[in-house]
Amino acid sequence: MNLSEQIRQLCQEKNAIIMAHYYQRPEIQDVADFVGDSLALAQVAATTDADIIVMCGVHFMAETAKILCPDKKVLIPEPAAGCSLADSCKAEDLAAWKAEHPDHLVVSYVNTSAAVKALTDVVVTSSNALKIVKQLPEDKPILFGPDQNLGGYINLMTGRKMDLWNGGCHVHARFSVEAILSLKQQYPDTKVLAHPECKAVVLQHADVIGSTQALLNYAKEHPEQKRFIVATESGILHEMQKACPDVAFIPVPAEGGGCNECEYMRMNTLQKLYDCLLNESNEIVVDESVAKDAIRPIQRMLEMS
Ligand code: 13P
Ligand code: SF4
Repeated sequence: MNLSEQIRQLCQEKNAIIMAHYYQRPEIQDVADFVGDSLALAQVAATTDADIIVMCGVHFMAETAKILCPDKKVLIPEPAAGCSLADSCKAEDLAAWKAEHPDHLVVSYVNTSAAVKALTDVVVTSSNALKIVKQLPEDKPILFGPDQNLGGYINLMTGRKMDLWNGGCHVHARFSVEAILSLKQQYPDTKVLAHPECKAVVLQHADVIGSTQALLNYAKEHPEQKRFIVATESGILHEMQKACPDVAFIPVPAEGGGCNECEYMRMNTLQKLYDCLLNESNEIVVDESVAKDAIRPIQRMLEMS
């Protein structure tokens, strides 16, 4: 048996489920039971009857699954798979910001630590942020963090004036506007699909702005389009290409021609996935007192999405 077949066999023996984010390596997406965006990963974790969840994504995704399923074993192939965006807001800094604005609601992006979620009123993902903020009382001021680009986009779409944390994702910050303009010139009438973590100047040139799942859905629902320009982490191209084999997906390069891959997402490999499932290693542990406070804003999100 090859490694993927051995992984599938272990899943059966152990009643384990493999969940993968769209930015994972193609071979991991292909072996997973479920591939999705951050919201779908949380929704599936909340309802699975598997005994073991292997979260092939970054640390906050596995932590969210553990908070939702405290009685299950949640494993991550590479525990050092972090997120620059989650790292851009420490719990103590959020606590100080909250203390300066005691009358504000705190809305936090799911790309945050459990300790930050524990200080939050409602968690959002890129899939539901707009919908959830629209449901919050208009007279209530909001602190939004840590992604300044997503927050700015929601402010623009809703007319709200949320106070924004100055955080961001290093991958989405570096997409080249010049490259988008030149691709648009080269391929007129081609739609630009962009993730809301991109800079405002990139979003200005986007035809569709949404989560990884929303961008994928758009491509699937528009078979008349034979080409798309894609401004998000390039791992999504694997599923896009599988779903729409006759369509050309052109990834936007980073400024200076650099890479548009998230090195944290790529830390998980098929071998590490096999090892962690075999040995049941790299188990996620969340402090009980933190988890007790962190689950409320996540559940509120699931109810409001
Ligand atoms: P999605 O929820 O859109 O999949 O995004 C997660 C993420 O980390 C984007 O960088
Ligand atoms: Fe975090 Fe950015 Fe990587 Fe997404 S792409 S996991 S936001 S560092």
